[in-house]
Amino acid sequence: MSASERPASERRGATRTAVVWDALRPVLEGSAVNVLDIGGGTGGFAVRVAELGHRVTVVDPSPDALAALDRRARELGVLVTGVQGDVDGLADLVEGADVVLCHGVLEVVDDPAAALATIREVLRPGGTLSLLVAQRHAAVVARAMAGHFPQALALLEGDPPSGRSGHRFTVEEATRLLVDAGFEVTSVHGVRVFADLVPGSLLDLEPGATAALVELERAVSERAEYLPLATQVHLLAR
Ligand SMILES: C[S@@+](CC[C@H](N)C(=O)[O-])C[C@H]1O[C@@H](n2cnc3c(N)ncnc32)[C@H](O)[C@@H]1O
Repeated sequence: MSASERPASERRGATRTAVVWDALRPVLEGSAVNVLDIGGGTGGFAVRVAELGHRVTVVDPSPDALAALDRRARELGVLVTGVQGDVDGLADLVEGADVVLCHGVLEVVDDPAAALATIREVLRPGGTLSLLVAQRHAAVVARAMAGHFPQALALLEGDPPSGRSGHRFTVEEATRLLVDAGFEVTSVHGVRVFADLVPGSLLDLEPGATAALVELERAVSERAEYLPLATQVHLLAR
């Protein structure tokens, strides 16, 4: 199937995740390893990792998400073990992992530092953590553009006290959290620098637009000057 023949949702998804997959590919090359996807939700990443031949466990507190994960894995004919639980109890739920994915989760936990310390406990020596978090500066811009000026201002100053919309992180804050938890950061990429700004209809109607946008996302992902515009930041650490 050519890129233009893929469903629109899949093509849009590719513009948002291509940079993450590029960074993860070398980590997941080679023989089968134990991969833990903490807060893996409905398994968008987990099933693709399982398709590469790895043993994948998703730990997530949501039974609905785990049911959807199960359906998705069955449809694709891959095995993914779903375990209901949260990051606080991780050490009691899994034995250890060679690769841990923590994508879109530090935003929603009460204590991101404690969550990373727990992940550090379950990551085997020499293993890799793939951390994907929402990036603060882009979130400030998004709120301002939506007319939510007080929220933009609150986010500019740091985490809003209510934390209702979840934590947001600058690259420096995410790096500091990782270092304080005992990790060494090995790569940093900006993710979705343009993907969320481009109208979906443009990707749907313009032949070749998705592939060109993915190429642009890749090109800017390592450019420090574009990092503050990235909706998410992806860090690999060990
Ligand atoms: C934004 S979704 C991200 C899903 C997936 N990782 C992805 O990248 O598509 C956040 C997920 O974190 C899960 N979650 C919420 N609180 C959690 C906690 N304390 N520990 C682990 N997972 C949690 C939610 O159930 C949800 O599936």
